[in-house]
Amino acid sequence: MGNPDGATPKHIVDKLCEAARNPKNHRYSASKGITQLRNALCEWYSRRYDVILDPEIETVVTIGSKEGLSHLVLATVGPGDVVMTPAPAYPIHPYSVIIAGGEIRNIPIGPGIDFFEEMEKAYKSSWPRPKMLIINFPHNPTTQVVEGLDFFTKVVNFAKENNIIVIHDLAYADLVFDNYQAPSFLQVPGAKDIGVEFFSMTKSYSMAGWRVGFCVGNKKIVGALTKIKSYLDYGMFQPIQIASIVALRGPQECVEEIRKTYESRRDILIKGLQRAGWKVDPPKATMFVWAEIPEKFRKMGSLEFTKMLIKEGGVAVSPGIGFGEGGDNYVRFALVENEHRIKQATKGIKKVLNR
Ligand SMILES: Cc1ncc(COP(=O)(O)O)c(C=O)c1O
Repeated sequence: MGNPDGATPKHIVDKLCEAARNPKNHRYSASKGITQLRNALCEWYSRRYDVILDPEIETVVTIGSKEGLSHLVLATVGPGDVVMTPAPAYPIHPYSVIIAGGEIRNIPIGPGIDFFEEMEKAYKSSWPRPKMLIINFPHNPTTQVVEGLDFFTKVVNFAKENNIIVIHDLAYADLVFDNYQAPSFLQVPGAKDIGVEFFSMTKSYSMAGWRVGFCVGNKKIVGALTKIKSYLDYGMFQPIQIASIVALRGPQECVEEIRKTYESRRDILIKGLQRAGWKVDPPKATMFVWAEIPEKFRKMGSLEFTKMLIKEGGVAVSPGIGFGEGGDNYVRFALVENEHRIKQATKGIKKVLNR
């Protein structure tokens, strides 16, 4: 799983403890998130991407981006609606649509595939026409990234021409390597007219279990999520929100440390796999390595190959088929073990591949 193994930075945990001792913070909180947290997020977007957001109507705090995304889809999609999602995909991207009673239209994604072209094809060959597009760059599980704003600009133009809602999941904003920078969808002028973006504290600040995410952008779409959440939840525990303010406004060296940890794990894994005779291109972002199964084992399919790696090599990876169509020639490594364990794992893999 993409479950960060590192501890949340100390200054954030300290703030949580302090805030938890104040009885004022023990009551129900605001469902859309406290004002100061939404303000801190707007400052982050402005500092980071030069994107200006209105904290009152263009932001909502969610219980992790997974909850936010699935409830947003529930609020906006119903039976008969078609939604385009990448395939393979992070499972909640298509499953949120299925839960809402909508229909999925797959867009192939992966190395060597022109995703925009595939998206146009999927749109034109669907009836009824899709009303929504869910995208995610840097992408889980394929680790595909977009360079600059060209791709997002094309998406915004296409969405405007065809009246499509766009949801962009930016969970891996900070887990970027080799000087690659992941753009925000909202950097494209006019993106707010048709879409929203999800950002999350999970990966950038190693706060997986805290469940803090955000949906920002188009006020009507943000409003739909805010409204359904006002029926469903009372917001997250206030000390968690207060600690998240400190995370966003405080020193950012911790984010760089987290980023570097994943980068060096990636390098060790790629080198170890190479030594095992498995050549894999290093990803530019995310906490994953998406590896094509070596030719001589490909016929087994990803599930059987994965079982073999567990039984004979003592290594657990995710079978690509678990992420949907187009995934079966691949497995996904998650960089959630320390360097020593990664080295051990690649030795186990070498044994299996070269027996
Ligand atoms: C693409 C993507 N979006 C969202 C999430 C979950 O984020 P959160 O913890 O904010 O719900 C993940 C976690 O693996 C992910 O890979």
